[in-house]
Amino acid sequence: MKHIEGYLRVSLFLSEMGKLSSVFSLRHFLVLSLALNVALISRVVYEGENWREEQIRALMADASEKSAHVSISSPSPPSPSPSTSSSMAVTSTEIKDDGERVINLDHGDPTMYERFWQQMGDITTIVISGWQSMSYFSDVKNLCWFLEPEFAKQIIRLHKIVGNAVTDNYYIVVGTGSTQLFQAALYALSPPNASEPMSVVSAAPFYSSYPSVTDFLKSGLYKWAGDANNFNKDGPYIELVTSPNNPDGSIRQPVVNRSGENLVHDFAYYWPQYTPISSPADHDLMLFTVSKATGHAGMRLGWALVKDKEVAKKMTSFIELNTIGVSKDSQQRAAKILQVISDSYEPVGNPKQSGSFFHFSHSMMEERWKALRSAAKQSGLFSLPEFPSSFCNFLGQAFGSQPAFAWLKCEGGIEDCGNFLKKHKILARNGKHFGASPEYVRVSMLDRDESFNLFTKRLSSLHLSQSKDHEEESP
Ligand SMILES: Cc1ncc(COP(=O)(O)O)c(C=O)c1O
Repeated sequence: MKHIEGYLRVSLFLSEMGKLSSVFSLRHFLVLSLALNVALISRVVYEGENWREEQIRALMADASEKSAHVSISSPSPPSPSPSTSSSMAVTSTEIKDDGERVINLDHGDPTMYERFWQQMGDITTIVISGWQSMSYFSDVKNLCWFLEPEFAKQIIRLHKIVGNAVTDNYYIVVGTGSTQLFQAALYALSPPNASEPMSVVSAAPFYSSYPSVTDFLKSGLYKWAGDANNFNKDGPYIELVTSPNNPDGSIRQPVVNRSGENLVHDFAYYWPQYTPISSPADHDLMLFTVSKATGHAGMRLGWALVKDKEVAKKMTSFIELNTIGVSKDSQQRAAKILQVISDSYEPVGNPKQSGSFFHFSHSMMEERWKALRSAAKQSGLFSLPEFPSSFCNFLGQAFGSQPAFAWLKCEGGIEDCGNFLKKHKILARNGKHFGASPEYVRVSMLDRDESFNLFTKRLSSLHLSQSKDHEEESP
């Protein structure tokens, strides 16, 4: 309304001025009218911007009211351009917790990384037009014909920079997450005409998806055979070696070590924010995923580094029959993300590297583990694994692992840790899903600041008396 009123006033003014036409020429009027209109338009734009800001402020206020029981002091707004590590350090938070809000840390959803990528602004933005990425094929000359060349290039570049895997003389197979590659690997490593399914084992505690993904389709080719520590069957087998391990963060080697072994190394967490990079891994079949490397789980992209050509071919065939390739759009997006990370580390000594992805995420994990250990100590009810310090060639410093999950043990006679935490509205995955005791739970360390901070706050407030109440309630 205000703008319309303003416009009427201007028109009136102009018509009054028309009476003076004998004094001023038409050109004078046009210039004057133009000046007035420019002033009017800029006022409309200005007020429009104010209005938008007000709307955003109102939305934010509304959102913070809705997140009811948590109040966090001055969260820094995302800046549009890359900033330094210090400005991206974990913000200190003051939290009020009335114990009512459910904190769900059951999944390893890597939303912790959103803040970093938000602060990177448009540097990782790519535009894909309607006519692009239309063909099924990415590179018909490549054994893995649906692998985008730029993604392959950036995978090799990043591994060389970080030093966590050898890529020379390896075939790269891309998959819809490393979950698809895991299944492709089981298919490729199992003989097609064996009299019985190949045994698939992993040392407990193992990643909880391995048994269910392995047996989901009741394949005649392979079958879950449980804890590798108890495996004593003759004949060929597949051992899954996850290092650092999900759920307990341990650094692992194969445990069965018998003839007929086929190893799949799951290196989802062999990145410097989680563990020191001691040497480039060079095993026969290694799995990686953007989900935990950069936090882009929603892209659904993983890659396998495979030494043997026939195995790589069979894995490619599996994906061909399963999904006829892997999203090109995702691969192009991932290539950009990896490129931005690598660019910040090259040339060596690039001043930008202190604010780069691995430096940022490493210090974030460090702070989170400090906060968690202090909360566990304050409570007195929980214990956590300790990790020996070793030298990281990439970061140039020694540190102990700071895993993506906390393998939390309830002390004080609590037999079912998951159940105990659930009573306090903390959801974590029960140890029995990992082939371990229910005294343990796996807690995601990769959630957003708000959830994580609330979690440590609540954990620190749980004491022995509450564990006794709990035991009395559940016989
Ligand atoms: C050890 C391990 N491997 C594989 C995956 C799955 O990765 P993706 O999201 O690429 O399927 C996860 C996810 O939590 C994991 O922890």
